[in-house]
Amino acid sequence: MILTVPTRPFDGQKPGTSGLRKKVAEFRQPHYVENFIQAVFASLPDHDGETLVLGGDGRFYNREVVQIAIRMAAANGFGRLLLARGGLLSTPAASLLIRKYGAFGGIVLSASHNPGGPNGDFGIKFNVANGGPAPEAVTERIYAETRKLSHFLITDTPDVDIDRLGKSTVESMTLEIIDPVADYRELMAKLFDFGAIADLFRSGFSMRFDAMNAVTGPYATTILEGSLGAPKGTVVNGIPLPDFGGLHPDPNLVHARELYELMMSPGAPDLGCASDGDGDRNLIIGRGQFVTPSDSLAVLAANAHLAPAYRSGISGLARSMPTSSAADKVAEAMRLKCYETPTGWKFFANLLDAGLITLCGEESAGTGSNHVREKDGLWAVLLWLNILAVRRQPVKDIIREHWRKYGRHYYTRHDYEGLKSQAAADLMDSLRDRLPQLSGKKFGREIIVRADDFAYQDPVDGSIAAHQGLRLFFESGARIVYRLSGTGTEGATLRIYIECYEPDPARQAREPQEVLRPLVELSRSLAELERRTGRQEPSVVT
Ligand code: G1P
Ligand code: ZN
Repeated sequence: MILTVPTRPFDGQKPGTSGLRKKVAEFRQPHYVENFIQAVFASLPDHDGETLVLGGDGRFYNREVVQIAIRMAAANGFGRLLLARGGLLSTPAASLLIRKYGAFGGIVLSASHNPGGPNGDFGIKFNVANGGPAPEAVTERIYAETRKLSHFLITDTPDVDIDRLGKSTVESMTLEIIDPVADYRELMAKLFDFGAIADLFRSGFSMRFDAMNAVTGPYATTILEGSLGAPKGTVVNGIPLPDFGGLHPDPNLVHARELYELMMSPGAPDLGCASDGDGDRNLIIGRGQFVTPSDSLAVLAANAHLAPAYRSGISGLARSMPTSSAADKVAEAMRLKCYETPTGWKFFANLLDAGLITLCGEESAGTGSNHVREKDGLWAVLLWLNILAVRRQPVKDIIREHWRKYGRHYYTRHDYEGLKSQAAADLMDSLRDRLPQLSGKKFGREIIVRADDFAYQDPVDGSIAAHQGLRLFFESGARIVYRLSGTGTEGATLRIYIECYEPDPARQAREPQEVLRPLVELSRSLAELERRTGRQEPSVVT
């Protein structure tokens, strides 16, 4: 039976950079999840009889919300629900399933790289029919619905056994529980030369893939150890756990420290990789060589033709604005356009759909291509492997060669987490007000030549996204960018992105934090950071 349950709106159900993300405790309030899911469905007319995809990163509360979503999808008239077995579905695999099975959209239960467990975070994202994150127009409609909701629809059907593959019905909806790894593996085998990568492993190439006790474990184990013959034990932390084993599943130099240290040690394998909570991020470290995500995008773009999927070339590139301009240098050399989009994957989808770009990426460890409409951690690892299988050079040599050819972008991001929201907003407002006066000012050796508040006009649909970050450009080619995070769940997080460009090969092997120190200091003083936030040092440096 379909029940109409009266409810009242909750404040703050506003999707951020990537869906609605809050503390688990907030999500566990009665009707909180139901309200948001109803708002998603209410904002989408014409879903009657359509197919919906459902799954999540396996974090605490995933299984409970899966059951709620099943009942609500049935009550709201969906014709078919494709549920990943155990409710375990990586974000890129969700994008793939939506596209492959012609779904109307998908619900992904994930707070990405944020910590899990009962005291951690939870999240709900909605992806549209092209497999990409809901664009701003849709998230705004969803938010508007959350504010006026008076009831939600749900069936009174019992819990479903979500661990058994097969078909059943819930009211009049068909529920299909499928193995998402199989579809994903099949796509990867089409994109990449699995034979060449298997040869690479046979030749003694060694690798560690840290799945961080999150959703990528089953995908990585099946593909790397199963299909490609990497030795057992290549994938570590490969079983998804509701609290990620107490780890913070963010593949960066802070939370994947152990992997980093291994890769810098004498016994390092040839390649070290990691992925995040929902499998869309990637970390790439060669033996003795960390690869910044910005550099990774550039190297992948310059070498993509070595993999079957991109053999006939790429149509264009895109990077999020705070990402370094390493990819721009490659695009320039290849006579391609490199689009600069606001932070968040949703801005890439239109460019990919229109065929304007083939590869895209973000400094936050997200890289992807036109194979799906999400960033894809394991895909990036496989593209690296394919390139290594053809070039047969250490990662370090590939990177150094790349810098010699295109120049090196020294890059760092400093995050100041848990700031008082008002203080952070005031800091940004004050800096924004001062932008016009900053142009032409000299600070030590650096001169600001341009300062602006980044706005983006989508070249495909003409929509405008304003206030996407404050940018300071220096005569030397250096740049400082300030923006507030749209995914944090505690107070505000200020992200400061700092880069400079070094074309001289003799000066490319220096320590980034050393090279960037004067700019880092300037980034703090210009923002009046200490006075406004009481902080002198960042919480996280990547
Ligand atoms: C962060 C990253 C951004 C990424 C998003 C979702 O968003 O900076 O690049 O797309 O997570 O993974 P932010 O917290 O900065 O808004
Ligand atoms: Zn993620």
